Amino acid sequence: MTPDVPQQPGTQQPGTQQPASGQPPMRQPTTRQANLWDRVGGREVIKRVVAEFYDRVEADPELRPLFPDDTAEGRQKQEEFLEQWLGGEGRYSAKYGHPRLRMRHFPFVIDQRAAGRWLRHMAEAMRAAGVGEQEIAEILNGLGPLARHMVNAHEDVPREPLGNIRLQ
Ligand code: HEM
Repeated sequence: MTPDVPQQPGTQQPGTQQPASGQPPMRQPTTRQANLWDRVGGREVIKRVVAEFYDRVEADPELRPLFPDDTAEGRQKQEEFLEQWLGGEGRYSAKYGHPRLRMRHFPFVIDQRAAGRWLRHMAEAMRAAGVGEQEIAEILNGLGPLARHMVNAHEDVPREPLGNIRLQ
């Protein structure tokens, strides 16, 4: 599993897209992921997952300071991203272009521990939202490497906020 994809189901055949130089290999949409979106329960369930997730992040004294005071926009983006990543509609990329999640996370100093807590909150949020254990395992199998890919605490990367810019 490789991270960071502009998940637009049906637009690519697996393995046909080459990453730009210096970028990690792109993860390709697959039938399994499209199916996963249905199996998870679609938009209403993901909305609940994101609400549960952000409530946990907001209650976490280690992660809370990384996030803006108002998390409304982050919640919205996370819903759109997860829908796309799971094989639903591609609303995230329609608005913001390529996810380039690692780059979009440069403004936040993320260490290994923070990535682990992020994942744990996401796993608990999926359980709280009633996602099945098989689906949770498959999703964590993809999100685990992606979360570790966000770790940037010991790197000298640009920390300026990117806002809502559209990326190629
Ligand atoms: C699988 C791992 C992750 C995924 C899929 C993910 C996904 C996202 C997405 C889609 C956004 C919105 C980006 C944008 O368009 O501006 C975002 C924002 C953010 N993420 Fe992550 N993220 C991950 C890991 C992490 C980790 C490990 C941390 C740190 C603990 C983190 C902290 C943040 C923060 C602080 C924001 C800004 C939120 C806001 O503006 O309200 N993320 N993330």
